[in-house]
Amino acid sequence: MSVSHALEADVLRRQDPELADVLLAERERQSTTLQLIAAENFMSPAVLAALGSPLANKYAEGYPGNRHHGGCEVADVAERLAVRRAQALFGAEHANVQAHSGSSAVLAAYAALLRPGDTVLALGLPHGGHLTHGSPANFSGRWFDFVGYGVDPESGLIDHEQVRILARTRRPKAIVCGSISYPRHIDHAFFREVADEAGAYLIADAAHPMGLVAGGAAPSPVPYADIVCATTHKVLRGPRGGMILCGGDLAERVDRAVFPFTQGGAQMHTIAAKAVAFGEAATPAFAAYAHQVVANARALAAALGVEGLAVTTGGTDTHLITADPAPLGVDGRTGRRLLAAAGLVLDCCALPHDARGLRLGTAAVTTQGMGAREMTYIGGLLASVLRGGTDPARAREDVRELAAAFPPHPR
Ligand SMILES: Cc1ncc(COP(=O)(O)O)c(C=O)c1O
Repeated sequence: MSVSHALEADVLRRQDPELADVLLAERERQSTTLQLIAAENFMSPAVLAALGSPLANKYAEGYPGNRHHGGCEVADVAERLAVRRAQALFGAEHANVQAHSGSSAVLAAYAALLRPGDTVLALGLPHGGHLTHGSPANFSGRWFDFVGYGVDPESGLIDHEQVRILARTRRPKAIVCGSISYPRHIDHAFFREVADEAGAYLIADAAHPMGLVAGGAAPSPVPYADIVCATTHKVLRGPRGGMILCGGDLAERVDRAVFPFTQGGAQMHTIAAKAVAFGEAATPAFAAYAHQVVANARALAAALGVEGLAVTTGGTDTHLITADPAPLGVDGRTGRRLLAAAGLVLDCCALPHDARGLRLGTAAVTTQGMGAREMTYIGGLLASVLRGGTDPARAREDVRELAAAFPPHPR
C-alpha cells in the first residue's frame, strides 16, 4: 500500500500520528505550491502502489535466474518485465534497472569502463555538470582525472570546438555528455565523432531528458553512446532511481559494475515501480505529455524573457530553463527565497557568466494538466515577485488558487 493510500486508509494515522502528520504536511505543501524544480514530477497512483507493494520486503541480490537469496521467483518476473520494457522503450540492446539512483548509475558506468586515475572529459560543474562529473566533493573528482569543457559565455551553448581540442590534447578514456541545467538538445553525433577520434568511450548522462526521449520529444543518446545513464524520476515520472542502457558487448561489464561492484541487494519494489513507469511511458498519452512539457517550457521561457529575465540560450528545447534575474534587481539566491515565499518552488543554478541564476522545469506542472496559458501567468507572477511589484504573501494566495485548480495526482 502506498503512503498516500495508507494515509487515506488511516493506517499510519492510527499507528504513528506523529509521522502521519509529517506526510500530510508534505502532501499539503505539494498541492498548494507549484513545483518548478526541473528534476521533480508527480508519480502516478500505479507507480506509487508498486513502490508500496510487498516487493519492498524482498531481498534479491544478483540478477533474475541467478540470485543469492531464495524466494526470488516473483521478483525475477518483475525485474525481467522492467528490463524488457526499458529495452523496448529506448531501443537498447541491454538495460540494467538496478541502479539505486542517477549517481549510482554513473558510478557503475565509470566502474564498467574506467580505472582509478583515468582521464575523463565532462561538462565542468560551473557550466552545468553534475557532481558525478568531477566534483572534488564526489567520488568522481577524487578517483578520476576530470577535465572540464564549458559553454560559450555569450550564447550559453556548449563550446564544441573546445570539446574537440581537449579531446585531442588530453586523450581522455571517456567523454561524458549530459548536464543538470543545459536547456538545449545535446549533439550526440558530434560527441560520438569526437570520442571516436580520441579513442574514448562516450557516456551519456541523460538523467534529465530521458523522459522526453521516451516520449519522442528529444533525440535519443542510445544509438551514439557506449553507455547511457539516466534517472527514472524527473520527466520519466517513475520512482526515484537509476537505469543504465548499453549495447550487448558491454552488458556483462555493466551488470557486474552495478552488482556486486557498487551495490548489494536490488530494491525490488522500486524495480517494479520502474516497470510500471516504463509501461506508462510507452503510451501515446505519455508522448503527448512529453511534447506538452517542452511546449510549456518554451512558453514559460518566452514569458520570462518578455518580463526582462535573461534566459540562457534565449529559450529551451527541453523541460528546463535557466535564467538570470539580475535585470530585475535580484540575484538567483535572493530570487529563490522570494519565490519560495510565494509558493513558487525552484532551484538556483550556476550560470555561464559566473552568476547564480534560477533553474525551472515544467515536468510537474504539466503532469497537473497546465498549459501555455498557465505558463504565461506563472512567468508574469514570478517576475512581479522578483521585481517587488507583488508581495510574496499576496502571490502565495494566487499560487494556492492555481494549484487548487490543477491538483497533482495522486490526490
Ligand atoms: C545529469 C545528472 N546526473 C546524475 C544525477 C544524479 O541523480 P540522483 O540524484 O538520482 O543521484 C542527476 C540528478 O539530478 C543529474 O541531473
